[in-house]
Amino acid sequence: MEPCPRNRGAGNLPLDKTNVVSGAMTKFGKLEDVTLREMFAEAVDKATLGAGIPKKDIQAAFIGTFIPEMFIHQGHTAPLLLDFAGLKGISGTRHEAACASGATALRAGIMAIESGLYDTVLVAGAEKMTSVSTLLATEALAAAADDEFEASIGLTFPGVFGIATVAHMRKYCTTEEDMARVAVKAHKNASTNPLAQFQKEITLEKAMKPIYVAWPLKLFDCSPISDGAAAIVLTSNEKAKEYTDLPVKIIGTGQASDSMNLSGRSELTSFQSSVAASKQAYKMAGLEPKDMDFAVVHDCFTIAEIIASEDIGFFKPGEGVKAVNEGITALDGDKPINPMGGLKAVGHPVGATGVKQAYVVYKELLGEAGPNQVVNHDVGLMHNFGGTGATCVVNIMRRADA
Ligand code: COA
Repeated sequence: MEPCPRNRGAGNLPLDKTNVVSGAMTKFGKLEDVTLREMFAEAVDKATLGAGIPKKDIQAAFIGTFIPEMFIHQGHTAPLLLDFAGLKGISGTRHEAACASGATALRAGIMAIESGLYDTVLVAGAEKMTSVSTLLATEALAAAADDEFEASIGLTFPGVFGIATVAHMRKYCTTEEDMARVAVKAHKNASTNPLAQFQKEITLEKAMKPIYVAWPLKLFDCSPISDGAAAIVLTSNEKAKEYTDLPVKIIGTGQASDSMNLSGRSELTSFQSSVAASKQAYKMAGLEPKDMDFAVVHDCFTIAEIIASEDIGFFKPGEGVKAVNEGITALDGDKPINPMGGLKAVGHPVGATGVKQAYVVYKELLGEAGPNQVVNHDVGLMHNFGGTGATCVVNIMRRADA
């Protein structure tokens, strides 16, 4: 029998076995003297030994890296990174889905635990981007777009998201000032996050400075080019008890794809992969957007945060801007979004981002986010996409005692 179209692509199982028992990230930014393998090992050491988890317990690793071939002339990263991190010998696989590489690695880790194949796995992501000029980094990132129809004729990611911005402006009267407020919020939240690339608040005037990257997107609408790594450890229910009294459960996961090429889209003010992936995750968790206490979304550009907040169902289409302007998505708002600063101000080392988002949700749920702690923290959602939303992963996480 054909599946109901509404459920196409959704997983069938309730998730009831996957626990996050530790997590860590390195500082994000321009880390001049630190190599990819060193960043990776630092994140892994913190997430394993730093949390009392012996490395010998890790049975397999799922690793997100986007294009180290172009940034540091290095492919086949899984065995390289595992060896340096003291995990030689275990099963290790690299996952690539552009900016969603980290979250696709996480999905593979979830499936490995849910299937019962492993009890304890490492999920990690890393990228070293500042080893090349901004020009070369832009060209490398453009590999996540459709080369034949977009990148080779000069359409880069700031350009692609500039197009989405213009569409949002036309349809919903969104302004440059509205987007600047997203940047102000991101920098404010990151100002108290010691691992963020930018730890300085900015004024609205500064965010509005006409330093155009791809009109109407300006410097402060863009996430930066960054280095960094993140890691989390997933375990089965039985194994979780050995490491912690209070794990975080992953209770819903969804993933969907869309055309690479913008011309294949029916609309530019919403990313259908985000809508589909979040619906799958909500259905699996048996929850709705109103049940989420906060979200960590993929704000590679300020417009991307606004669109994501609508696509995951927090706000109706076109009402994401109002939510930012009224402080609803602020750290102390009713629906905090990117409470630690997001990609925009914490940085976006591409392969690390999805894993870092899971780490942020984990810390917030445990109440360990310090000055960046959200008030309500029982259930949180992470949204990570690659390209212009050609791949999207959404996961819902809940504290075990909530
Ligand atoms: N937000 C805020 N400040 C930024 C910034 C950003 N995104 N990027 C750089 N800066 C700051 C730097 O800290 C530096 O400040 P300083 O002079 O006080 O030290 C200054 O701007 C110049 O930095 P530089 O690295 O020379 O900037 P750049 O012009 O080479 O690059 C962008 C700026 C916006 C073009 C670059 O960050 C970029 O391409 N971002 C988008 C990345 C992307 O597309 N990712 C994939 C998303 S799908």
